[in-house]
Amino acid sequence: MDMKLAVIGGDGTGPEVVAEGLKVLKAVAKKEGFTYTTKNFDVSGDRYLARGGDPKQPSIEVISEAEIAELRAFDAIYLGAVGHPDVAPGILEKGLLLKARFDLDQYINLRPVRLYPGVPCPLAGKAPDDIDFIVVRENTEDLYFGGGGFLRKNTPQEVATQEMIATRFGVERCLRYAFELTRQRKAAGYPGRLTLVAKVNVLTYAHSLWERAFHEIGKADYPDVERDYNHVDACCMWFVKNPEHYDVIVTPNMFGDIITDLAAMIQGGMGVAAGGNINPEPDGVSMFEPIGGSAPKYTGKNVINPIAAIAAMAMLLRETGRKLNDPKIAAAGDRVEKAIMATTPKMKTQSAGKMGYSTTQVGDLVCEAL
Ligand code: IPM
Ligand code: MG
Repeated sequence: MDMKLAVIGGDGTGPEVVAEGLKVLKAVAKKEGFTYTTKNFDVSGDRYLARGGDPKQPSIEVISEAEIAELRAFDAIYLGAVGHPDVAPGILEKGLLLKARFDLDQYINLRPVRLYPGVPCPLAGKAPDDIDFIVVRENTEDLYFGGGGFLRKNTPQEVATQEMIATRFGVERCLRYAFELTRQRKAAGYPGRLTLVAKVNVLTYAHSLWERAFHEIGKADYPDVERDYNHVDACCMWFVKNPEHYDVIVTPNMFGDIITDLAAMIQGGMGVAAGGNINPEPDGVSMFEPIGGSAPKYTGKNVINPIAAIAAMAMLLRETGRKLNDPKIAAAGDRVEKAIMATTPKMKTQSAGKMGYSTTQVGDLVCEAL
């Protein structure tokens, strides 16, 4: 059976790094012996502008309903980057990335935080063994659902509200995913510790729901998983001081957004950080991306680091292999990650333009290491 992949290169350096991920896919598919098809979706800031979209405010759709409907038929989506220097912030992010997350109900945002060998770490004295955890960020609720509004807008008496929601349903499905993942990791030799990161001392309604659900579900169904709790501010402190404490973190959407940028830095920067927007249901379609932006100043120069995009491909293969019950595809994911770990020590740094290799050369090195 062919694995069916939708590809959205997107903006800026997105298409360049996606090309390297696809190059690695081609090589690993041959080695593991599976077949796949890809279809490109031309969804980007350039297309939005070319179709007459207003650069200042959302005017036309960035991705159409028909395209979203079409995406549902794929096994996975591979995304490059969203963000265009001539389009006001928010238009493309909401019009494409957040829309896909919500419409396709990708309710888990999964962010592995792993310091690969040879990657410079800004924390003194920390080695790959110390930074190896994974963040499970809820991806459809919290401050991101879009509720709120203005009163007396543009007057000195303006009032603006932005609402945070937590539903038992949304929180529970995210927690269960995180508990399952922690249990699986424990079987693979990790500590089996799940840390809830929230702010229960201030957000006494929404995060009370999180806390109660966390302990109820953990106690009833996952007694083998150690339950741990950190306030979000303390978590930022520990990321820098004792990252080795963490195994799996589960957290609401907004805090997850913030702590995963900090986490990306301790794993060596945006050049290496990958993420998945996952709908774990049997018919769900998940989307994988390097978490960095479109890097307009590096676009077209063949200097951007493709490791994050290749790591996103490794995640895509592992998740899709599991979903399709195809061990070859899952094995390809592991193989790509091992090849990344054989490549990073050869690179000078993980920063664009300072890798000692071009974008395409890094892709070639990973292919050779497969
Ligand atoms: C991320 C990004 C997005 C988010 C933006 C681009 C809307 O920062 O994927 O973390 O806030 O979720
Ligand atoms: Mg973010």
